[in-house]
Amino acid sequence: MSSPAIAILGTGAYAPAKVLTNAELAQRVDTSDEWIFTRTGIRERRIAAAHETTSEMAAAAARTALADAGVSADEIDLIIVATATPDMLMPATACLVQSKIGATTRSACFDLNAACSGFIYALDTAWAMLGSGRYRHALVIGAEKFSGIVDWQDRSTCVLFGDGAGAVVLGPARGTARLLGARLYAEGGNTDLLCVRPGAKPVIEMKGREVFKVAVREMEDAVRDILEQHHLSAHQIACVIPHQANRRIIEAIAQYLELPLDRFFVNLERYGNTSAASIPLALDEARRAGRIRAGDTTLLVAFGAGLTYGAALVRW
Ligand code: COA
Repeated sequence: MSSPAIAILGTGAYAPAKVLTNAELAQRVDTSDEWIFTRTGIRERRIAAAHETTSEMAAAAARTALADAGVSADEIDLIIVATATPDMLMPATACLVQSKIGATTRSACFDLNAACSGFIYALDTAWAMLGSGRYRHALVIGAEKFSGIVDWQDRSTCVLFGDGAGAVVLGPARGTARLLGARLYAEGGNTDLLCVRPGAKPVIEMKGREVFKVAVREMEDAVRDILEQHHLSAHQIACVIPHQANRRIIEAIAQYLELPLDRFFVNLERYGNTSAASIPLALDEARRAGRIRAGDTTLLVAFGAGLTYGAALVRW
């Protein structure tokens, strides 16, 4: 029996209202708007208030995605939250989301940590579970509160990250829209390039220049593999939704694919790097901005601590 076709039925996102600009950061650490913007493309990021926990942001994004999909919470039988910043070490953030959105207790709930590649990892995992025929509708959420693990005295990292959440509802394809493919990878030899060690106040440690180089190589590998596997040329991709870490990394991928930058959806100027939330947040904005139309093929590509990386192809 062949697997049922699975599609993204709806998307949603949530970003905290509080904006932290580069100019405000420059009052805390020795940096400037000019340095941050030219090196990263970031102008500002959102910072969650105390009540805006990862699960709260995830639940808000999930509700919007459910409404967009026309699927009710009690039809969801699988919830995966991709996050490196869960509310608690246990229980899983997905269990908190289940309760907050009023989903049935007959849904499987777990978190997945593949850092900034987490959403693509969760998408592929949920797809496989739905493809088995044993689950019907899934919520796949990327949600992060990185403001809680940033060292606000470290100018080399604190300028990069922000908070937010994005979600998609997966379910049986209704028309020709469907998930076409996904590939996941990890280079575990590079764990020390980007990590958060346990401690009294765990914070992000990063070798930025090395991460930059490996990220470009890995994302190039991932897009080449997935396009070859599906016999697609880059020019057949209507919109690329890359992980929103650094504009220069995105420009390098655009050059590699020989695609104009306007084929990429980029919103990192307003959000910074929201880790596992970055792709679903961008995906939702791209859809609502009319950048993705019925029949389009979209390429998602990410990298993150691990170093994990991966890509997915989505037909709308
Ligand atoms: N403001 C001003 N100066 C800063 C700064 C800041 N916020 N952060 C670092 N600097 C300084 C450094 O101290 C260094 O000074 P020095 O030359 O006197 O030693 C100089 O700027 C250059 O630092 P470097 O780290 O080599 O800069 P870079 O061009 O590599 O840019 C990053 C730094 C972090 C922006 C860039 O390497 C990057 O984006 N890497 C990828 C990180 C990433 O995407 N992480 C998330 C993965 S999911």
